[in-house]
Amino acid sequence: MQAIRFESFGGPEVLELVEATVPDPTGEQVRVAVRAAGVNPADWKRREGLFGPLEFPAGAGLEIAGVVDAVGPAARWRVGDEVIGWAVSGGYAEYTLATQLAAKPAALSFPDAVAIPVAANTASGALDALKVTSGETLLVNGASGAVGAIAVQLARSAGARVLGTASAANQDVLRELGATPTTYGDGVADRVRALAPDGVDAILDCAGHGFLDAAIELRGGTDRIVTIADTTASDKGVAFFSRGGKADLAAVDRVARLVADGEYRLPGAPRVFPLAEAAAAQEESRTGHGLGKIVLTVD
Ligand SMILES: NC(=O)c1ccc[n+]([C@@H]2O[C@H](COP(=O)([O-])OP(=O)(O)OC[C@H]3O[C@@H](n4cnc5c(N)ncnc54)[C@H](OP(=O)(O)O)[C@@H]3O)[C@@H](O)[C@H]2O)c1
Repeated sequence: MQAIRFESFGGPEVLELVEATVPDPTGEQVRVAVRAAGVNPADWKRREGLFGPLEFPAGAGLEIAGVVDAVGPAARWRVGDEVIGWAVSGGYAEYTLATQLAAKPAALSFPDAVAIPVAANTASGALDALKVTSGETLLVNGASGAVGAIAVQLARSAGARVLGTASAANQDVLRELGATPTTYGDGVADRVRALAPDGVDAILDCAGHGFLDAAIELRGGTDRIVTIADTTASDKGVAFFSRGGKADLAAVDRVARLVADGEYRLPGAPRVFPLAEAAAAQEESRTGHGLGKIVLTVD
């Protein structure tokens, strides 16, 4: 099978399309014939070595949508099931092993569905950490991104008023998601204060880029600020959220159904690249801008 691997940390040039052995599932694992692989910022950060040591050659990619193709003896999925979730052996590949999966709604295409696992898992966990409740005002930085867009909609479903930041080009997108939009960058605290004169109850930073100082200013301290993206958080006394190993599959399932039913929307159409162009897809992700999940399709 074809797969994207890398043998050392580095730039996009370390990614190689290789011929690899099709993996066999054991225990609770299934083998998924990948139809679409999500390209996440984590993928290029891991490739650059920002997440620490790796065993090489390393498979690239963690998020997949595809069809169960073989099952381990203790697996709870059947051959032919359409699934979304996490790859354990590299998602940028024709086949990968997986255990953490949710059903792909039939109404969603594979490139649309692959936008959901990481975004739903991360957004729901970060909002739980912030304990956002009905009637509160939440500010989401980077609200047009893959995670931010789902966070906006989950918070709206919980009854919160949501303010969101995005670039000037994406202000209408935030309105469509249900957020009151403003732009990020210099003066963001003043713009937020103008939109929420009574203050914001909680802040979720889904982008980083030095936003935490404005967040602390707006909150008058570090209480009820969570970032998923700013690695300086602990220096500033701000909580960094990462779900870690075990995904909230119920949250993934719920968001997938809401998107399939048209209750929730993805921030934009998927930005699709063929598997062989993984390097270009990761470079697109590295820009940190643009709408729609970046996706590798596998024929
Ligand atoms: N901790 C975790 O478990 C976890 C999980 C998933 C993701 N993450 C991290 O969360 C971040 C977002 O991931 P994603 O997949 O949602 O990325 P994404 O889809 O690329 O979205 C990036 C977002 O950041 C915005 N943005 C760009 N420059 C900005 C700036 N200077 N200030 C404020 N916002 C800015 C973009 O808005 P425009 O396009 O309008 O410019 C967009 O809304 C990444 O750093 C990723 O590594 C962490």
